[in-house]
Amino acid sequence: MEKYSIRGGKKLYGEVTISGAKNAAVAIIPATVLVDGPCRIENVPKISDVTSLLMIMRELGANVKLINDTTIEIDCSKIRSTKAPYELIRKIRASYYLIGSLLGRFHCAEVGMPGGCDFGVRPIDQHVKGFQSLGAKVDIKNGFIHCSAENGLTAANIYLDVVSVGATINIMLASVLANGQTVIENAAKEPHIVDVANFLNSMGADVKGAGTDVIKVRGVPTLKGGSYAIIPDQIEAGTYAAAVTAAGGDILIKNVIPKHLECITAKLAEMGAVIEEYDDSVRVKRDGPINRVNIKTLPYPGFPTDMHPQLVTALCVANGTSIITEGVWENRYRYVDELKRMGAKIQVDGKVAIVEGVEKLTGAPVRAWDLRAGAAMVIAGLIAHGVTEVEDIIYIERGYEDIVEKLTQLGADIKRVEYPDEEEVREAL
Ligand code: EPZ
Repeated sequence: MEKYSIRGGKKLYGEVTISGAKNAAVAIIPATVLVDGPCRIENVPKISDVTSLLMIMRELGANVKLINDTTIEIDCSKIRSTKAPYELIRKIRASYYLIGSLLGRFHCAEVGMPGGCDFGVRPIDQHVKGFQSLGAKVDIKNGFIHCSAENGLTAANIYLDVVSVGATINIMLASVLANGQTVIENAAKEPHIVDVANFLNSMGADVKGAGTDVIKVRGVPTLKGGSYAIIPDQIEAGTYAAAVTAAGGDILIKNVIPKHLECITAKLAEMGAVIEEYDDSVRVKRDGPINRVNIKTLPYPGFPTDMHPQLVTALCVANGTSIITEGVWENRYRYVDELKRMGAKIQVDGKVAIVEGVEKLTGAPVRAWDLRAGAAMVIAGLIAHGVTEVEDIIYIERGYEDIVEKLTQLGADIKRVEYPDEEEVREAL
């Protein structure tokens, strides 16, 4: 087993290059099922969620080629299986995009119920509502979601009860080859939604309005192959911006779309960071005190829920008391107990956390409860006095490419260390 060992107290200086967006990649890869020809995808992040998805695509019969570190080619023209393997599906939540793409192309899909980070209940009722509106029969049994549309799929007007990234994307995927024009109202507007729509259009689809709350999908007979480059990861970039705001220093974050970061950098500036925006990079520095702030997480362009653990960590050593309200997930505060081990003063009541700034955090052994909670533990290790060891790094490496190497490049004292897992301990007894 591996964990991270981080000696805190070092400021961050230098440059970091952001990888392709995880939440775009994990939707675009399944979306290739809709395409009757080779899709060349560039700027794919080297993360385990992508690896898991590529294994699933191969199991379905897709021809998957790794062109280089960040470029893949997927050809689904010969796919015939519409049943995704249960054991692989459970690993990641985004596997549910295979339902929309298999249903959209073959009018049939059998996909295991999704796994993914545990923030309490993670329903898929809006996805099901969309598929049924398009004419599919949906059953959930034996741990699988069974969808079928013997008479094909017909366009519909779908009004989402909840602003849902997953449901918006899944309904887009299911409707690109359907008869007529589908309208998705109350759609999510995240940058990765726009990226999926742009990918589909580059393959011959007709999707309009992505990035607004009304998306119109006019069905086309078929999608042909093509090539596409994934946008930079807004949350990875935000995580490095939060890290330097917490630790202090001065870094240049390269390969970003500054507009996508505004919802994050605006809050970091309130906290005392100095932000300079360039065409495809953002400079973030902090050498004064960290100011207390209030945060409410909301769908884009609100403050992203996937950035809340990282900022709470920085606020643990701010001047004053901050209030965080989680407006998207039921319970995203499991990481708070880990911060308390390090001396943080945080009270959680339902969706609200009150963070009382303390003079310092102290290093401790902590766990990564989920992907962004893991990133928060790394940031806590960067600012704590002493050594912090972060276990369960498998979660972190699902979504952060080369995080140890990138932080080391910025001057952090972080390394991967081996430690015996329970199996090895038992064998040694
Ligand atoms: C995506 O999850 C992201 N994951 C999450 O990022 C992110 O936190 C979330 O969007 C919100 O931005 C991927 O893109 C793979 P939702 P998703 O459907 O699509 C409720 C990360 O760290 N809801 O937008 O699963 C739901 O309970 C991950 O990268 C329903 O009620 O989120 C939640 O309260 C963690 N019914 C809200 O909507 C549904 O059918 C938003 O969920 C679907 C969702």
